[in-house]
Amino acid sequence: MPWIKTIEAATVESEEIAAAQAGKDWVVLYAADGGFYASAVLCSHGQASLADGYLEDFLIECPLHQGTFDIRTGEPVDPPCTEPVRVYPTKVEDGFIYVEVEENET
Ligand code: FES
Repeated sequence: MPWIKTIEAATVESEEIAAAQAGKDWVVLYAADGGFYASAVLCSHGQASLADGYLEDFLIECPLHQGTFDIRTGEPVDPPCTEPVRVYPTKVEDGFIYVEVEENET
């Protein structure tokens, strides 16, 4: 699966949450506990962007109904979320965050 270059790690570090294009799709990048994580933009419960959410430790809280997901696994943690959100592997090279996507998503 291809790795897609997104945005500078320093930007995500300073903002904690940032949306970025990764191939055909947009993802949300998170900085937490010295690492970087990536998820789908849309909450699995409704039409809300997790990029507008609130990050605490490894939990992203959706801005619409305050459900939460673990950014490491995408699993729902607090209701009303019951379905996971997709997460993506990340790595940092030359100061940029790369996200691994499916071949057909590039
Ligand atoms: S839309 Fe995200 S918790 Fe409802």
